[in-house]
Amino acid sequence: MAEEQAQPSGPDLAQGVATSDFTGKTLLGHVGDQDVLLVRTESGIFAIDARCSHYHGPLAEGLVVGHSIRCPWHHACFDLRTGEAARAPALNPLAVWKVEQQGERIFVRGKREQPQPIVKGPVAAPDKIVIVGGGAAGFAAAEMLRREKFGGDIVMLSNDGAVPVDRPNLSKDYLAGSAPEDWLPLRPDDFYPGAGIDLRLKTQVAAIDPKARQVALADGKTVPYDRLLLATGAEPVRLPIPGADQLHVHLLRSLADCEAIIASAKGAKRAVVIGASFIGLEAAASLRTRDIEVHVVAPEQRPMERVLGAEMGDFVRALHEEHGVIFHLGDTVAAIDGKRATLKSGGTLEADLVVVGVGVRPRLALAEQAGLSTDRGVAVNEFLETSVPGIFAAGDIARWPDPHSRQNIRVEHWVVAERQGQTAARNMLGQREPFDAVPFFWSQHYDVPINYVGHAEQWDEIAIDGDIAAKDCLLRYRSGGRVLAVASIYRDIASLEAELAMEQGRTP
Ligand SMILES: Cc1cc2nc3c(=O)[nH]c(=O)nc-3n(C[C@H](O)[C@H](O)[C@H](O)COP(=O)(O)OP(=O)(O)OC[C@H]3O[C@@H](n4cnc5c(N)ncnc54)[C@H](O)[C@@H]3O)c2cc1C
Ligand code: FES
Repeated sequence: MAEEQAQPSGPDLAQGVATSDFTGKTLLGHVGDQDVLLVRTESGIFAIDARCSHYHGPLAEGLVVGHSIRCPWHHACFDLRTGEAARAPALNPLAVWKVEQQGERIFVRGKREQPQPIVKGPVAAPDKIVIVGGGAAGFAAAEMLRREKFGGDIVMLSNDGAVPVDRPNLSKDYLAGSAPEDWLPLRPDDFYPGAGIDLRLKTQVAAIDPKARQVALADGKTVPYDRLLLATGAEPVRLPIPGADQLHVHLLRSLADCEAIIASAKGAKRAVVIGASFIGLEAAASLRTRDIEVHVVAPEQRPMERVLGAEMGDFVRALHEEHGVIFHLGDTVAAIDGKRATLKSGGTLEADLVVVGVGVRPRLALAEQAGLSTDRGVAVNEFLETSVPGIFAAGDIARWPDPHSRQNIRVEHWVVAERQGQTAARNMLGQREPFDAVPFFWSQHYDVPINYVGHAEQWDEIAIDGDIAAKDCLLRYRSGGRVLAVASIYRDIASLEAELAMEQGRTP
């Protein structure tokens, strides 16, 4: 997804621009060979790197809100005063540049020394925070604890063998073979010792003892905590069919899963993908990029209809068919015998590899064993604290009171997991910050990104603005007269505006 830096953009800001040429909210220019964005806010003019630190989204096409700017691609938010990545999915700050106004001209001088993020700091800082899980929520929490100047111990326990990685990439560019390996880690290995984060990989947490305030590891050791964050995520559902345990039949959650699929894909001619949801279809697209014939088998009549509705479902199906995917909808795989997958309808499909993407289940065993309240997820309050004070939960396992849908919801979105990790971190430091971000996710199929803000499990009506087939549309999911969610293709600014409207309680 990253774009190559071509010729520097716009005017040379070191030479200055006339104030009369800067009439909008942003102006894209350059200093030397670097693109820099001038941004006008009510409190002055700022200059900031023009590309998002997540996947290099063009901030010139983003939305300015107060003294921040939001990225058009996956809605990261940067503080214009400090460059801080105030909201995930971006984690790294952007450089801010010196702005000088002389008469009728605005000049951008060199980069400012990276200002410190504006932090509230620990209120009643505990000594030791333990995080169970090395994924989106766990990593974002650990990183935010240090950003917030927490000086105590952080222990991060993960049963994965890999440092926290950019999981969404595992079904997209990395699986397609178009992203290098060094894109994947959220931070390099030496970040953890450098930041004083005791990351213990291949470490299985077996139990939590809330009375003794310690977790028990599978190897018999114990780790005490003052505050605990549970961020164990979700695990892929395994298919209870004969042959699902063969080496060429894969689930897709971890880097190891992805590497195993890539190894199977080498030399493969045909693949069967079981499941037509996000992971299944993203994997199908990536395997097509590798020139493998792909058959998708799924019981529903339309892919993604449950989440995105019939019209978008039809579009997604047609898009994949244009790229050569062959669907077997209204069908399931009954058994896999070597390379032969037998369908319930009676047919068979040859497959050198099979990818199973039939949904995930939140990993609740630890929470249940510890006696935390659960409700199809770990029940948390608006501060992401569980029923046991001092134990917080975030990410795919957490069911929280969402002020926008006015329901207790649990979602499986990367950005939500990271933002919850960040909020939980602050609250473990005593800040009492409610989690009120509007849920956001994106999905990528070939060159088509689908962005979704809000949360609609059901709706009365979908109002379509634009043309889905032309890949230029915004869909509003309405229930009882309220817009619960908005999905869009190449309507990035409208998607950002919808998010802001929902935050402010307005109708998007
Ligand atoms: C291939 C793929 C692509 C995706 N693409 C997108 C996308 O495009 N957009 C989007 O919004 N979302 C996407 N998602 C979903 C997104 O990745 C998840 O919502 C997100 O990772 C959830 O974060 P989490 O921290 O809750 O869980 P995870 O990231 O799964 O992390 C959980 C961690 O807990 C560890 N763990 C679990 N149990 C234990 C235990 N007992 N002891 C020790 N460690 C334990 C695991 O090893 C793991 O490190 C994708 C998911 C996958 C698998
Ligand atoms: S590229 Fe900016 S949020 Fe992803």
